[in-house]
Amino acid sequence: MQTCSPMIWSSAVLLSCLVPLFASKPLSRRWNEVVEKHSWAEIPRGWEYHSPAPAEYTFDIRLGLKQDKMDDLVANLMETSDPSHPSYGKHLSKAEAEALVAPHQDSVDAVEAWLQHHGIAPENIVHSTGGGGWVIVRVSVAQAERMLGTKYNVYHHTRSAERVVRTMSYSLPRELLSHVDVVTPTTYFSTLRSMRKTSFLQPNLLAGLVNDVTNALSDLATPKDCGRIITPACLRALYNTTDYKPAATDRNTIGVAGYLGEYANRKDLQTFFTKFRPDAVNSSYTTIQVNGGGDDQNVPGQEANLDIQYTTGMTFPMPNIYYSTAGSPPFTPDSANPTNTNEPYLEWLTFILNQTTIPQTITTSYGDDEQTVPEDYARKVCNLFAQLGSRGSTVFFSSGDYGVGEGDCKTNDGTNRQIFQPAFPASCPFVTAVGGTTGIPETAIDFSGGGFSRYFARPSYQASAVSSYLGSLGNTYKGLYNETGRAYPDISAQASGYQIVVGGKVTSIGGTSASSPTVAGVFALLNDYRLANGKSSLGFINPLIYSTAASGFNDIVQGSNPGCKTNGFSAKAGWDPVTGLGTPNFVKLQELV
Ligand SMILES: *[C@@H]1O[C@H](CO)[C@@H](O)[C@H](O)[C@H]1NC(C)=O
Ligand SMILES: *[C@@H]1O[C@H](CO)[C@@H](O)[C@H](O)[C@H]1NC(C)=O
Ligand SMILES: *[C@@H]1O[C@H](CO)[C@@H](O)[C@H](O)[C@H]1NC(C)=O
Ligand SMILES: *[C@@H]1O[C@H](CO)[C@@H](O)[C@H](O)[C@H]1NC(C)=O
Repeated sequence: MQTCSPMIWSSAVLLSCLVPLFASKPLSRRWNEVVEKHSWAEIPRGWEYHSPAPAEYTFDIRLGLKQDKMDDLVANLMETSDPSHPSYGKHLSKAEAEALVAPHQDSVDAVEAWLQHHGIAPENIVHSTGGGGWVIVRVSVAQAERMLGTKYNVYHHTRSAERVVRTMSYSLPRELLSHVDVVTPTTYFSTLRSMRKTSFLQPNLLAGLVNDVTNALSDLATPKDCGRIITPACLRALYNTTDYKPAATDRNTIGVAGYLGEYANRKDLQTFFTKFRPDAVNSSYTTIQVNGGGDDQNVPGQEANLDIQYTTGMTFPMPNIYYSTAGSPPFTPDSANPTNTNEPYLEWLTFILNQTTIPQTITTSYGDDEQTVPEDYARKVCNLFAQLGSRGSTVFFSSGDYGVGEGDCKTNDGTNRQIFQPAFPASCPFVTAVGGTTGIPETAIDFSGGGFSRYFARPSYQASAVSSYLGSLGNTYKGLYNETGRAYPDISAQASGYQIVVGGKVTSIGGTSASSPTVAGVFALLNDYRLANGKSSLGFINPLIYSTAASGFNDIVQGSNPGCKTNGFSAKAGWDPVTGLGTPNFVKLQELV
């Protein structure tokens, strides 16, 4: 509300000063006073300037409105996920969560007034409730540039040749800063293909062997075999799930979030079952296509097949959903046709949060370097993961495959300093980040992503575990990592030698991409166990695993995660930024959840 200085206290001014006291909307808003919302010092690495964006190109701008009672949602999440709290396990319904994250009417009014000021008629404004309030408007590049005080360009990704329309900075009227969290697409460049796919093919030495001993292999159920080859049988033995029979399959589901045009293949899954999980033959999973995501059965994806084969391999006969979320088709700079704007996390999150029923366990094997994700964008996405937790879902992310960081690890703020490079969304305190191990007995795998967020403060649930580790670390790496940041991974699992079937052939694959579906499988079985016993799903597990359930993990005390031209962190007794609390022991965890 405007204030009135006594010096200009004339009757005309008096009127305009008093009106806001009685009307709910100020008479005039000051749209000209703009403030920079986010900017980059340099074009994000891997991208190059291509050309100015054509002024007439149209696209959808999404304004993420401030979620009015987000603090209450987080406070509630911390209570309902704290095993010592009376509200433990009392998850929110869709309506209850939406009541907390809905924007305040003042925010809606302010944004609408601003859009009208820019000539956008109310009937062209779309309001979306999925994941709080989003306002979506289709505008031309010229219009977006006027509204956001910026210049849009076409950038191309040097490795994939993918093109996107993005900007190096954007601004908003000061009046809107307290109402709008983020505007997309603006400065988040990372797109489907450039998001790191945390998996890679390993030398195929063992695959030939596997093809020869197909039938014998499903009997390799003793954990010692996990030292050479990973199959569902050896993981089930190693993590003690072999004897558990899912009993709540009418209400418990596991979900896999897939991106990058990766399609899980149904025929390959049957081949995989025949070789590695014979009792599951003829069972399958459901594909849900989000935002026009594909399901081309002629193009089996390695990542998608890995995720589906190991989640089903660990949890059969539990229902399984593969979410295929589309990005944009390659952008053609001379096209005036609207394309979607390639914001994969947001597309999937707004879709899933709009569902009444959400899988109780969800795994995602994709990530970015945190510094390539604008902080306002990362915060918004992280808040949406908090919302998933509050709805009762356990959300896993791979911790990354480059130890403490890939390559030269230079900052992108113009100073070119060398620092460890945390990964996002693993660095979001509302997800459970999964690192990697190898061998029997298990040691840390040398690429296991781990470190400390530069955006997110350390959550209280891990304060004591992390400070013990930092105490033993002393001054080593001081300045290279953020001593007050959220630390990850939280837990870990095997990350090399996974046997998968792609295009009918057995292939060996690794990465924390493999660890996340494995751990998700174990926790999906724990969710089944709780539901079968009349309890609620586990939901957000971090407060639980760092406290009463910490003894349900096999502590990994050997190995390290080199990167950024350093030796990286070392695994130690207790939590460490290489393997977290360790690998799960289902039988022990059953007693603790
Ligand atoms: C949310 O779901 C409702 C009901 O299925 C649907 O009408 C609406 O379009 C959905 N909204 C979004 C943003 O997906
Ligand atoms: C779990 O598996 C390990 C290794 O197979 C085994 O030694 C142990 O007895 C099993 N049970 C428990 C409760 O740890
Ligand atoms: C799988 O389905 C096929 C075709 O319906 C059938 O012939 C086969 O016996 C089934 N196999 C199992 C193990 O159920
Ligand atoms: C460390 O994390 C905090 C959040 O806890 C953040 O405010 C700060 O900027 C970070 N410092 C560095 C050097 O990244």
